[in-house]
Amino acid sequence: MKLLKQDKPNIRSYYGDGYDIVDVDLSVIDHLGSYILQENFSDSPLHPGISQPDWDADYTNITKEFYEAQQKYIDILKPLVEKENYFDYWRTLRGPFDELIVSINKMDKGSKMDWHWDGFDGSMLQLMLYVNLEERTREDGGFLEVGVSYEPMINQDDPFPHWSPETGLNKVTGHVMSKCSYVPKNDKAIILNNDNPLYVHRVTECKTDKPRYSVLLQCGYKTLWDGNSLKNNGGQYKDPRTGMITKLNL
Ligand SMILES: [Fe+2]
Repeated sequence: MKLLKQDKPNIRSYYGDGYDIVDVDLSVIDHLGSYILQENFSDSPLHPGISQPDWDADYTNITKEFYEAQQKYIDILKPLVEKENYFDYWRTLRGPFDELIVSINKMDKGSKMDWHWDGFDGSMLQLMLYVNLEERTREDGGFLEVGVSYEPMINQDDPFPHWSPETGLNKVTGHVMSKCSYVPKNDKAIILNNDNPLYVHRVTECKTDKPRYSVLLQCGYKTLWDGNSLKNNGGQYKDPRTGMITKLNL
């Protein structure tokens, strides 16, 4: 059975606008949903109204227990990236993704996420899936927007894109041109280009009592993942020029 309907990515959309959309078989979403409904979600202290399963962790804090806890989701999602024709382009040119990290977000009424880029972990690509218990409409809010950040460097001598010493890494400022405003649907997966820091995304305010569940799969390569100095330094970057320490602020 084909789990992803399209046999190849839309290269123009993925590399030109930062995302692609692919049809996903609903058996995948039903399977994910059966696990998600058993999870115990706890609030994220920095983001009111956004919660994650108890085992979920930032990529700077991945433990053996995290890998064990995410495994049941990996068992569902790995066949998509390993076997479906859609991913053949990356598999053939770069080799199979060998670092897969799952996170699950539950967003309640009033919550939102500002523009950000998820590539600080060294991931190549992100698969986003939605588990709506009830169908969402535009009135429900909680759209996924993908945009292009035209000023990724905040100051001329910044060492990283979206670098803000005052507030932490990953502060998107300046003009962002929105490329899509998308109502999450169970039968569509979004593929985000995490390799290009110009491509940022956000979630607009959720305006309904319907919880918004998303399952995110960061896809990358173990060598890049293990070599990421931010991860190996607890999400801190020490500027070699000044010695100043800046934290990630996700
Ligand atoms: Fe994100």
